[in-house]
Amino acid sequence: MVDDSFDHLATRREEPVWQPMPEAVRTFFERPLPREPEGAETAYQDFLEQVVPYSMGNDHPRFWGWYMGAGNPVGNLADLLASVLNPNLGGGDHSPVLVEQQVVAWCAEAAGYPTTASGLLVTGASEANLVGLAVARTARLGPEVRSDGLPSGRRFAVYASTEVHSCHRKSLELLGFGSSALRAVPVRADWTMDVEALSAAVAADRAAGVEPLAVIASAGTINTGSLDDLEAIADLADREGLWFHVDGAIGGFLALSEHAAAVRGIERADSLALDLHKWMQAPFDAGLALVRDEAAHRATFSVVPHYLAHSTRGLSGGEVWFNEYGIALSRGFRALRVWMALKAYGASAFGQLIDRNVVQAQGLAARVDAHPEVERLAPVGCDIVCLRYAPAAVPAERLDEVNHELVLRVHESGVAIVSETVLDGHLAIRVAISNHRTREEDLDLFLTTLTRLGEQVVADLVSAS
Ligand SMILES: Cc1ncc(COP(=O)(O)O)c(C=O)c1O
Repeated sequence: MVDDSFDHLATRREEPVWQPMPEAVRTFFERPLPREPEGAETAYQDFLEQVVPYSMGNDHPRFWGWYMGAGNPVGNLADLLASVLNPNLGGGDHSPVLVEQQVVAWCAEAAGYPTTASGLLVTGASEANLVGLAVARTARLGPEVRSDGLPSGRRFAVYASTEVHSCHRKSLELLGFGSSALRAVPVRADWTMDVEALSAAVAADRAAGVEPLAVIASAGTINTGSLDDLEAIADLADREGLWFHVDGAIGGFLALSEHAAAVRGIERADSLALDLHKWMQAPFDAGLALVRDEAAHRATFSVVPHYLAHSTRGLSGGEVWFNEYGIALSRGFRALRVWMALKAYGASAFGQLIDRNVVQAQGLAARVDAHPEVERLAPVGCDIVCLRYAPAAVPAERLDEVNHELVLRVHESGVAIVSETVLDGHLAIRVAISNHRTREEDLDLFLTTLTRLGEQVVADLVSAS
């Protein structure tokens, strides 16, 4: 299995990134519970035949959809080792807990955040952001919020730009504030939060009797990768007494790269959400929640019943019990995949990969700008290029339809995976190059495929109608 897995990675470039599943594959997965043993050989053969060819494709050099990492071989092997050892990192005095503590401190350092912060690995940035905002809630409203819920008769507001990721809405819904507490602050032409508009929104809320609670800055927005001005937002948060949370899912590790200055101010965050399965290339899933004030962190999540009591000796010793920092009690050994990769490759290598992806994104943008039939729809933020196929022959009102169909045809071609979004009311094709396997030639192939398929889409949809 290990040999096949590494052969798979070595030959991945020659295969389609993704391919549609035949009906027979879908029906294969409708088979009933196997009550009698089929044997490990059959299970593995079925995996090879029914799963591998139709997987997502984010292990491929030309996967640039949504925002994902490609995984890495040391991380892959670490997953096997972690799974064999199979410890539970909810708590207890055992070395895997120290591995995770070290990963938390190393990642804080890599992100330019205080290494004294408390933190824990979670499923991804959605959960890391929820942890940060949950701590903000207890820190600002007091421990009573845990027993009594939100105080009745008071209204609260949390601020973020219109570009903030949708997971924050879920967080505010789950924390009882309701999504209407999320104030969508307008962005400037570069897609970063308009800090003057933020200031005005806070003042308007105060005047209306609403209590401003926290501000979420995006260190890399999901649509365009734009980086909010963290220093300016931190200054405003200080002045206004707001909890300062940074969503660093995309750009949170820029401090490792040549672009460290772009995230100056990240160290001032009260809480920081990071994603390791994005630009840090950890196999899924791995996010990291960091909180500057350990006591506030623990005061938000700690519940220690008799059956989970800590002691000073035995396996129930140990200073940090991660279940006191987050939602899960039982937790896998996610930390090993990050720890081994950081040791094997060195943190600087990840910084260099980030730099290379940024150069690749800027190079693609330059080729788009020079192309008569493709146009760019936003400045390149981090490693994200937003573009559309827009030949003069296609009327403006048909461009969304053409580009939507084009994204699907690119998928079906197997050449690349890109995704789509809407910018200023226009459908944009998003190319998010957070992939350490990508080469320049991959981006050239994408662009020629895009225009070749674009001509077909126009012939089928526009010329035919
Ligand atoms: C800015 C930002 N925040 C949060 C998330 C959610 O992260 P995850 O998918 O790891 O839960 C993403 C995902 O792309 C993101 O780009």
